[in-house]
Amino acid sequence: MIETKNYKTITKDDFEIVYQNIQKKIEKILSNALIKRKPQTLYEPGAYILSSPGKRLRPLLVLMSVKAVGGSYSDAYNAAASVEMLHNFTLVHDDIMDNADIRRGLPTVHKKYDVSTAILVGDSLLSVAYEYLLKDLKVNIKDTVATFNHGVVEVCEGQSLDKEFEVRNSVSVDEYIVMITKKTAAMAEMCCKIGAQIGNGSLEEIKALSSYGRNIGIAFQIQDDLLDVIADEKDFGKSIGGDLVEGKKTFLFIKALEKAQGKDKQALLKVVKNKGIDPKEIELYKDLYNKLGIIKIAEEEIKKYSKKAMKALNILKNPEDKEMFEILTD
Ligand code: IPE
Ligand code: IPE
Ligand code: MG
Ligand code: MG
Ligand code: MG
Repeated sequence: MIETKNYKTITKDDFEIVYQNIQKKIEKILSNALIKRKPQTLYEPGAYILSSPGKRLRPLLVLMSVKAVGGSYSDAYNAAASVEMLHNFTLVHDDIMDNADIRRGLPTVHKKYDVSTAILVGDSLLSVAYEYLLKDLKVNIKDTVATFNHGVVEVCEGQSLDKEFEVRNSVSVDEYIVMITKKTAAMAEMCCKIGAQIGNGSLEEIKALSSYGRNIGIAFQIQDDLLDVIADEKDFGKSIGGDLVEGKKTFLFIKALEKAQGKDKQALLKVVKNKGIDPKEIELYKDLYNKLGIIKIAEEEIKKYSKKAMKALNILKNPEDKEMFEILTD
Protein backbone atom coordinates (compact mmCIF):
# COMPACT_ATOMS: atom_id res chain seq x y z
CA MET A 1 0.00 0.00 0.00
CA ILE A 2 1.22 3.48 -0.81
CA GLU A 3 1.37 5.63 2.26
CA THR A 4 0.01 9.14 1.71
CA LYS A 5 0.77 12.01 4.04
CA ASN A 6 -1.48 15.00 4.31
CA TYR A 7 0.16 16.65 7.29
CA LYS A 8 3.22 18.88 7.21
CA THR A 9 6.48 17.68 8.68
CA ILE A 10 8.74 20.66 7.95
CA THR A 11 8.34 23.78 10.09
CA LYS A 12 9.60 27.28 9.39
CA ASP A 13 12.18 26.73 12.12
CA ASP A 14 13.47 23.60 10.36
CA PHE A 15 13.76 25.62 7.17
CA GLU A 16 15.60 28.44 8.97
CA ILE A 17 18.14 26.01 10.40
CA VAL A 18 18.89 24.56 6.96
CA TYR A 19 19.06 28.06 5.44
CA GLN A 20 21.43 29.32 8.15
CA ASN A 21 23.73 26.31 7.81
CA ILE A 22 23.85 26.79 4.05
CA GLN A 23 24.57 30.50 4.49
CA LYS A 24 27.50 29.65 6.79
CA LYS A 25 29.00 27.26 4.24
CA ILE A 26 28.60 29.78 1.44
CA GLU A 27 30.06 32.67 3.47
CA LYS A 28 33.11 30.55 4.18
CA ILE A 29 33.73 29.78 0.51
CA LEU A 30 33.11 33.39 -0.51
CA SER A 31 35.42 34.80 2.13
CA ASN A 32 38.27 32.52 0.99
CA ALA A 33 37.71 32.84 -2.75
CA LEU A 34 39.75 35.96 -3.41
CA ILE A 35 42.43 35.83 -0.74
CA LYS A 36 46.04 35.38 -1.82
CA ARG A 37 45.17 36.83 -5.24
CA LYS A 38 46.86 39.92 -6.60
CA PRO A 39 46.56 42.81 -7.33
CA GLN A 40 44.84 43.99 -4.20
CA THR A 41 43.37 46.94 -6.10
CA LEU A 42 41.14 44.38 -7.88
CA TYR A 43 40.50 41.74 -5.22
CA GLU A 44 39.97 43.96 -2.20
CA PRO A 45 36.92 45.59 -3.86
CA GLY A 46 35.88 42.11 -5.03
CA ALA A 47 36.00 40.83 -1.46
CA TYR A 48 34.05 43.94 -0.39
CA ILE A 49 31.02 43.03 -2.49
CA LEU A 50 31.26 39.28 -1.78
CA SER A 51 31.32 39.89 1.98
CA SER A 52 28.40 42.34 1.98
CA PRO A 53 25.20 40.98 3.55
CA GLY A 54 23.24 39.38 0.68
CA LYS A 55 20.45 36.91 1.32
CA ARG A 56 22.29 34.12 -0.57
CA LEU A 57 19.02 32.95 -2.08
CA ARG A 58 20.53 31.69 -5.32
CA PRO A 59 22.92 29.26 -3.59
CA LEU A 60 19.92 28.06 -1.59
CA LEU A 61 18.05 27.35 -4.84
CA VAL A 62 20.99 25.32 -6.17
CA LEU A 63 21.29 23.25 -3.01
CA MET A 64 17.58 22.67 -2.48
CA SER A 65 17.41 21.48 -6.10
CA VAL A 66 20.32 19.06 -5.67
CA LYS A 67 18.56 17.65 -2.62
CA ALA A 68 15.17 17.46 -4.36
CA VAL A 69 16.55 15.07 -6.98
CA GLY A 70 18.19 12.81 -4.41
CA GLY A 71 21.65 14.37 -4.06
CA SER A 72 23.12 15.93 -0.95
CA TYR A 73 24.03 19.53 -0.15
CA SER A 74 27.71 18.66 0.13
CA ASP A 75 27.75 17.73 -3.58
CA ALA A 76 27.37 21.34 -4.60
CA TYR A 77 28.62 23.94 -2.11
CA ASN A 78 31.17 25.27 -4.59
CA ALA A 79 28.64 25.41 -7.41
CA ALA A 80 26.24 27.15 -5.03
CA ALA A 81 28.92 29.71 -4.16
CA SER A 82 29.62 30.16 -7.88
CA VAL A 83 26.06 31.37 -8.60
CA GLU A 84 26.43 33.88 -5.78
CA MET A 85 29.64 35.16 -7.39
CA LEU A 86 27.88 35.43 -10.73
CA HIS A 87 24.97 37.24 -9.05
CA ASN A 88 27.37 39.68 -7.36
CA PHE A 89 28.97 40.40 -10.73
CA THR A 90 25.54 41.31 -12.12
CA LEU A 91 24.82 43.53 -9.11
CA VAL A 92 28.06 45.48 -9.41
CA HIS A 93 27.46 46.18 -13.10
CA ASP A 94 23.72 46.76 -12.56
CA ASP A 95 24.52 49.47 -10.00
CA ILE A 96 26.67 51.29 -12.55
CA MET A 97 23.85 51.06 -15.12
CA ASP A 98 21.19 52.14 -12.61
CA ASN A 99 23.21 54.93 -10.97
CA ALA A 100 22.69 53.28 -7.60
CA ASP A 101 24.59 54.55 -4.56
CA ILE A 102 23.60 51.93 -1.99
CA ARG A 103 23.57 48.14 -2.16
CA ARG A 104 23.00 45.86 0.84
CA GLY A 105 23.07 48.95 3.03
CA LEU A 106 26.59 49.90 1.92
CA PRO A 107 28.07 52.18 -0.76
CA THR A 108 28.08 50.49 -4.18
CA VAL A 109 31.43 49.38 -5.60
CA HIS A 110 31.63 52.15 -8.23
CA LYS A 111 30.83 54.76 -5.54
CA LYS A 112 33.28 53.45 -2.94
CA TYR A 113 36.03 52.88 -5.53
CA ASP A 114 35.40 53.95 -9.15
CA VAL A 115 33.68 52.78 -12.32
CA SER A 116 36.77 51.14 -13.84
CA THR A 117 37.30 49.12 -10.68
CA ALA A 118 33.63 48.09 -10.62
CA ILE A 119 33.77 46.91 -14.24
CA LEU A 120 36.84 44.79 -13.52
CA VAL A 121 35.44 43.45 -10.24
CA GLY A 122 32.41 42.22 -12.19
CA ASP A 123 34.50 40.69 -14.97
CA SER A 124 36.80 38.88 -12.56
CA LEU A 125 33.92 37.59 -10.42
CA LEU A 126 32.36 36.06 -13.51
CA SER A 127 35.53 34.14 -14.27
CA VAL A 128 36.10 33.06 -10.68
CA ALA A 129 32.49 31.86 -10.68
CA TYR A 130 33.30 29.39 -13.48
CA GLU A 131 36.34 28.25 -11.50
CA TYR A 132 34.14 27.34 -8.55
CA LEU A 133 31.39 25.79 -10.66
CA LEU A 134 33.88 23.39 -12.25
CA LYS A 135 35.04 22.15 -8.84
CA ASP A 136 31.70 20.37 -8.32
CA LEU A 137 31.07 18.94 -11.78
CA LYS A 138 31.35 15.15 -11.94
CA VAL A 139 28.29 14.23 -14.01
CA ASN A 140 26.46 16.07 -16.82
CA ILE A 141 29.49 18.35 -17.10
CA LYS A 142 28.84 19.80 -20.56
CA ASP A 143 25.12 20.28 -19.92
CA THR A 144 25.69 21.98 -16.59
CA VAL A 145 28.27 24.44 -17.97
CA ALA A 146 25.92 25.13 -20.90
CA THR A 147 23.07 25.85 -18.45
CA PHE A 148 25.23 28.21 -16.41
CA ASN A 149 26.48 29.98 -19.52
CA HIS A 150 22.96 30.32 -20.93
CA GLY A 151 21.96 32.04 -17.67
CA VAL A 152 24.74 34.60 -18.13
CA VAL A 153 23.75 35.35 -21.74
CA GLU A 154 20.10 35.77 -20.73
CA VAL A 155 20.96 38.23 -17.94
CA CYS A 156 22.87 40.38 -20.45
CA GLU A 157 19.93 40.33 -22.87
CA GLY A 158 17.48 41.19 -20.08
CA GLN A 159 19.64 44.04 -18.78
CA SER A 160 19.90 45.37 -22.32
CA LEU A 161 16.09 45.34 -22.67
CA ASP A 162 15.76 47.00 -19.24
CA LYS A 163 17.93 49.91 -20.45
CA GLU A 164 16.16 50.02 -23.82
CA PHE A 165 12.76 50.28 -22.10
CA GLU A 166 13.93 53.30 -20.04
CA VAL A 167 13.85 55.44 -23.18
CA ARG A 168 10.82 53.81 -24.83
CA ASN A 169 7.48 55.65 -24.72
CA SER A 170 5.48 52.52 -24.04
CA VAL A 171 6.14 48.97 -22.93
CA SER A 172 3.46 46.28 -22.65
CA VAL A 173 3.12 43.93 -19.69
CA ASP A 174 4.07 41.06 -22.02
CA GLU A 175 7.27 42.83 -23.07
CA TYR A 176 8.01 43.55 -19.43
CA ILE A 177 7.59 39.86 -18.53
CA VAL A 178 10.03 38.89 -21.29
CA MET A 179 12.53 41.43 -19.96
CA ILE A 180 12.37 40.26 -16.32
CA THR A 181 12.33 36.61 -17.37
CA LYS A 182 15.74 37.29 -18.87
CA LYS A 183 17.28 39.74 -16.40
CA THR A 184 16.17 37.97 -13.20
CA ALA A 185 14.19 34.76 -13.70
CA ALA A 186 16.74 33.16 -16.03
CA MET A 187 19.26 33.21 -13.19
CA ALA A 188 16.84 31.61 -10.70
CA GLU A 189 15.96 29.04 -13.36
CA MET A 190 19.63 28.37 -13.98
CA CYS A 191 20.28 27.87 -10.24
CA CYS A 192 17.55 25.24 -9.96
CA LYS A 193 18.55 23.58 -13.22
CA ILE A 194 22.25 23.23 -12.40
CA GLY A 195 21.26 21.87 -8.99
CA ALA A 196 19.12 19.23 -10.68
CA GLN A 197 21.88 18.46 -13.20
CA ILE A 198 24.61 18.18 -10.55
CA GLY A 199 22.32 15.89 -8.54
CA ASN A 200 21.84 13.81 -11.70
CA GLY A 201 18.07 14.27 -11.70
CA SER A 202 15.77 12.83 -14.38
CA LEU A 203 14.73 14.97 -17.34
CA GLU A 204 11.32 15.39 -15.74
CA GLU A 205 12.86 16.63 -12.48
CA ILE A 206 15.21 19.01 -14.32
CA LYS A 207 12.26 20.45 -16.24
CA ALA A 208 10.10 20.82 -13.13
CA LEU A 209 12.80 22.55 -11.08
CA SER A 210 13.66 24.84 -14.02
CA SER A 211 10.02 25.86 -14.23
CA TYR A 212 9.93 26.50 -10.48
CA GLY A 213 13.02 28.71 -10.75
CA ARG A 214 11.71 30.66 -13.71
CA ASN A 215 8.33 31.38 -12.16
CA ILE A 216 9.65 32.20 -8.72
CA GLY A 217 12.19 34.48 -10.43
CA ILE A 218 9.40 36.39 -12.18
CA ALA A 219 7.51 36.71 -8.88
CA PHE A 220 10.76 37.84 -7.21
CA GLN A 221 11.39 40.67 -9.70
CA ILE A 222 7.81 41.97 -9.43
CA GLN A 223 8.28 41.90 -5.66
CA ASP A 224 11.57 43.79 -6.07
CA ASP A 225 9.76 46.42 -8.18
CA LEU A 226 7.11 46.66 -5.46
CA LEU A 227 9.66 46.94 -2.65
CA ASP A 228 11.40 49.74 -4.56
CA VAL A 229 8.24 51.73 -3.76
CA ILE A 230 6.96 50.44 -0.42
CA ALA A 231 9.95 49.01 1.47
CA ASP A 232 11.77 50.50 4.41
CA GLU A 233 15.15 51.68 3.13
CA LYS A 234 17.04 50.03 6.00
CA ASP A 235 15.52 46.59 5.36
CA PHE A 236 15.75 46.94 1.59
CA GLY A 237 19.42 48.03 1.64
CA LYS A 238 18.87 50.11 -1.51
CA SER A 239 17.52 53.63 -2.10
CA ILE A 240 13.71 53.69 -2.24
CA GLY A 241 12.18 55.10 -5.43
CA GLY A 242 15.31 54.47 -7.49
CA ASP A 243 13.23 52.94 -10.30
CA LEU A 244 11.10 56.09 -10.60
CA VAL A 245 14.15 58.34 -10.53
CA GLU A 246 15.74 56.31 -13.33
CA GLY A 247 12.50 56.13 -15.35
CA LYS A 248 12.32 52.33 -15.21
CA LYS A 249 9.38 50.59 -16.85
CA THR A 250 8.57 48.50 -13.81
CA PHE A 251 5.46 46.35 -13.37
CA LEU A 252 3.98 49.10 -11.20
CA PHE A 253 4.70 51.86 -13.66
CA ILE A 254 3.31 49.97 -16.66
CA LYS A 255 0.13 49.04 -14.78
CA ALA A 256 -0.30 52.60 -13.48
CA LEU A 257 0.00 54.00 -17.00
CA GLU A 258 -2.61 51.47 -18.14
CA LYS A 259 -5.11 52.50 -15.44
CA ALA A 260 -4.57 56.23 -15.00
CA GLN A 261 -6.70 58.92 -16.58
CA GLY A 262 -6.72 62.69 -16.78
CA LYS A 263 -4.21 64.48 -14.56
CA ASP A 264 -2.85 61.20 -13.19
CA LYS A 265 -2.05 60.01 -16.68
CA GLN A 266 -0.34 63.32 -17.45
CA ALA A 267 1.82 62.93 -14.33
CA LEU A 268 2.93 59.48 -15.49
CA LEU A 269 3.56 60.61 -19.06
CA LYS A 270 5.80 63.31 -17.63
CA VAL A 271 8.02 60.58 -16.17
CA VAL A 272 8.26 58.99 -19.63
CA LYS A 273 9.04 62.32 -21.31
CA ASN A 274 11.68 63.33 -18.73
CA LYS A 275 13.05 59.76 -18.47
CA GLY A 276 12.62 59.79 -14.72
CA ILE A 277 11.68 62.04 -11.81
CA ASP A 278 13.36 64.22 -9.21
CA PRO A 279 13.92 62.31 -5.93
CA LYS A 280 11.75 64.96 -4.23
CA GLU A 281 8.72 63.67 -6.17
CA ILE A 282 8.95 60.03 -5.02
CA GLU A 283 6.24 60.43 -2.34
CA LEU A 284 3.89 61.97 -4.89
CA TYR A 285 4.15 58.99 -7.21
CA LYS A 286 3.92 56.56 -4.30
CA ASP A 287 0.57 58.18 -3.43
CA LEU A 288 -0.51 57.91 -7.05
CA TYR A 289 0.30 54.16 -7.15
CA ASN A 290 -1.74 53.74 -3.96
CA LYS A 291 -4.66 55.73 -5.33
CA LEU A 292 -4.71 53.65 -8.53
CA GLY A 293 -4.64 50.37 -6.55
CA ILE A 294 -1.37 49.31 -8.15
CA ILE A 295 0.14 47.85 -4.98
CA LYS A 296 -2.66 45.29 -4.75
CA ILE A 297 -2.40 44.41 -8.44
CA ALA A 298 1.33 43.77 -8.02
CA GLU A 299 0.70 41.57 -4.97
CA GLU A 300 -1.84 39.52 -6.93
CA GLU A 301 0.62 39.07 -9.78
CA ILE A 302 3.33 37.90 -7.36
CA LYS A 303 0.87 35.34 -5.96
CA LYS A 304 -0.02 34.16 -9.46
CA TYR A 305 3.59 33.38 -10.39
CA SER A 306 4.37 31.88 -6.97
CA LYS A 307 1.48 29.45 -7.40
CA LYS A 308 2.65 28.55 -10.88
CA ALA A 309 6.13 27.91 -9.44
CA MET A 310 4.82 25.54 -6.76
CA LYS A 311 2.58 23.70 -9.21
CA ALA A 312 5.61 22.67 -11.22
CA LEU A 313 6.99 20.84 -8.18
CA ASN A 314 4.07 18.41 -7.89
CA ILE A 315 6.23 15.71 -9.45
CA LEU A 316 8.85 15.79 -6.66
CA LYS A 317 9.04 12.42 -4.93
CA ASN A 318 9.79 13.51 -1.39
CA PRO A 319 7.01 15.59 0.22
CA GLU A 320 9.48 17.13 2.64
CA ASP A 321 11.45 18.66 -0.23
CA LYS A 322 8.24 20.17 -1.55
CA GLU A 323 7.47 21.61 1.88
CA MET A 324 10.91 23.23 1.96
CA PHE A 325 10.18 24.90 -1.38
CA GLU A 326 6.75 25.96 -0.11
CA ILE A 327 8.30 27.76 2.84
CA LEU A 328 10.91 29.39 0.61
CA THR A 329 8.20 30.53 -1.82
CA ASP A 330 6.24 32.12 1.04
C1 IPE B 1 18.67 41.69 -6.17
O1 IPE B 1 18.64 40.37 -5.75
C2 IPE B 1 18.63 41.75 -7.66
C3 IPE B 1 17.34 41.38 -8.23
C4 IPE B 1 17.22 40.48 -9.13
C5 IPE B 1 16.13 42.07 -7.84
P1 IPE B 1 18.54 39.99 -4.20
O2 IPE B 1 17.38 40.69 -3.57
O3 IPE B 1 18.56 38.51 -4.08
O4 IPE B 1 19.87 40.62 -3.62
P2 IPE B 1 20.82 40.16 -2.43
O5 IPE B 1 21.78 39.18 -3.01
O6 IPE B 1 20.01 39.55 -1.33
O7 IPE B 1 21.49 41.42 -2.01
C1 IPE C 1 18.34 43.66 -11.40
O1 IPE C 1 17.17 44.35 -11.52
C2 IPE C 1 18.55 42.48 -12.20
C3 IPE C 1 19.99 42.11 -12.28
C4 IPE C 1 20.41 41.45 -13.28
C5 IPE C 1 20.93 42.48 -11.25
P1 IPE C 1 17.15 45.67 -10.62
O2 IPE C 1 18.00 46.73 -11.20
O3 IPE C 1 15.75 45.98 -10.29
O4 IPE C 1 17.86 45.12 -9.27
P2 IPE C 1 18.15 46.02 -7.99
O5 IPE C 1 16.82 46.54 -7.53
O6 IPE C 1 19.09 47.09 -8.39
O7 IPE C 1 18.72 45.04 -7.00
MG1 MG D 1 18.72 47.22 -13.05
MG1 MG E 1 19.32 48.06 -10.13
MG1 MG F 1 15.07 46.70 -8.41
